Amino acid sequence: MAEKAFFEWSDAISVGVDAIDEQHKTLIGILNRLFIAIVERTSNEVTIEILDALIDYTKTHFELEEKLMRDAGYNAAEYALHLQQHQAFIAKTSEIARKHLVDGKSISFEVVHFLKRWLQEHILGTDKKYAAVLQKMGLPAPALAAFAEGDRAAKEAAAPKLRKWWQVW
Ligand SMILES: [Fe+2]
Repeated sequence: MAEKAFFEWSDAISVGVDAIDEQHKTLIGILNRLFIAIVERTSNEVTIEILDALIDYTKTHFELEEKLMRDAGYNAAEYALHLQQHQAFIAKTSEIARKHLVDGKSISFEVVHFLKRWLQEHILGTDKKYAAVLQKMGLPAPALAAFAEGDRAAKEAAAPKLRKWWQVW
């Protein structure tokens, strides 16, 4: 039997909107790569690349959520609170990356557990809440369609760079 991943996707964390679930799966995949990098004590270069992918893809993902909420006319106070959580997470992950890059501080298990816990709690609480409301209101299809193309490119950018070596052959 395959070993359990650090962070396993499950239906329990589905928000019921495919595009958002897919993005959450991609984020979980990046966190799993970060965890493996720590276990294997991989090079700083690889860890920085993963952190970069995490920050970039998180931004793409938050943009979609925020656009969906705006386009649907989601409650302004709820939107503001959600936005605050997103901004705090970007600030925190950027700080982790900065400490790693500038101060040479290694990424600890504590950090990767914090990121996992944050994402899990955010999905279960804040994301499920807005997704349920938006589903009742009717999802703004144009916002989802416009993002589909950009998301593909962002996912490619977030994919492990090492896999690209075969493309030159
Ligand atoms: Fe969110």
